Amino acid sequence: MVKLLICGASGMLGQDVVRAAELAGHEVVTTGRNSLDVTDSEAVALTVERERPEAVVNCAAYTDVDGSEREREDAMRVNAGGARNVAAAAAGVGASVLYLSTDYVFDGSKDAPYVESDEPNPLGSYGASKLAGESETAAMNPRHHVVRTSWLFGTGGRNFVETMIKVGAREREVTVVCDQVGSPTYTAHLADGIVRLVGTDAYGLHHMSAGGHCSWYDFAVAIFDRAKLSCEVLSTTTDALGRAAPRPRCSVLETERDDAIYLPEWRTGLDDYLAER
Ligand SMILES: NC(=O)c1ccc[n+]([C@@H]2O[C@H](COP(=O)([O-])OP(=O)(O)OC[C@H]3O[C@@H](n4cnc5c(N)ncnc54)[C@H](OP(=O)(O)O)[C@@H]3O)[C@@H](O)[C@H]2O)c1
Repeated sequence: MVKLLICGASGMLGQDVVRAAELAGHEVVTTGRNSLDVTDSEAVALTVERERPEAVVNCAAYTDVDGSEREREDAMRVNAGGARNVAAAAAGVGASVLYLSTDYVFDGSKDAPYVESDEPNPLGSYGASKLAGESETAAMNPRHHVVRTSWLFGTGGRNFVETMIKVGAREREVTVVCDQVGSPTYTAHLADGIVRLVGTDAYGLHHMSAGGHCSWYDFAVAIFDRAKLSCEVLSTTTDALGRAAPRPRCSVLETERDDAIYLPEWRTGLDDYLAER
């Protein structure tokens, strides 16, 4: 059992990490944006010094991918500056730090899944800010876990599954992109993986996503099938959709680590989510 301090504990993933950590018997201290702004270095240092955790899990982030294109500095301030503050404060009390990162650090041009040794090349500001957060975390605290994950959905926040279920109950058809491929990951499964990792000395970079992969189109079809909704899924392309931020075409994550933690398949995640919501 260890003492964990969790930043961004009210976010979609943060809520599940708190639950998983408590279930595992850890002593958990939670901080949300209201109680601890990670961009406030002094407040972060004071909180960490007061609580003296053995590990800090940083789930706080600016996560609006399209918004990051307009608010580049805000994304950097939270995802890179915040990461620096949290990692440095943890190092100050001899605690390890775990930083969450994303498949969007890759440009999606590889023909195979991305492993930890692949060179990142973010296409947009969000990915760039998260990559900067990875570097800040590693620079400030040698005892760091950087966990890259993808396409999260969970009961604690707005997500693609919930959007599809709402649309599917209302509309006869919905249009979804078919040319972005990734691994939809259930936050409860990821939280279990994070809690298993956090107490270990398997430091460095970890790719941790659900097993298997699909396109957003395939994912929508599976959601309607499992939720028994008769909504037709029409396919479109990323270019036709014209979102503000460019997105990688294929950002499937795999791990090459001997000590990797594997998560259940994305379809299992979807079933578990639908049973839980
Ligand atoms: N969602 C995905 O598909 C996805 C995919 C790959 C990686 N990730 C990464 O996984 C992690 C968790 O994501 P999530 O989906 O759980 O995101 P989320 O629901 O948006 O949670 C992020 C939390 O951070 C808080 N926050 C924002 N700015 C803060 C600040 N300055 N100080 C303290 N807290 C702050 C947010 O509060 P407010 O709600 O009040 O802003 C929110 O509670 C993030 O690092 C994200 O980059 C997410």
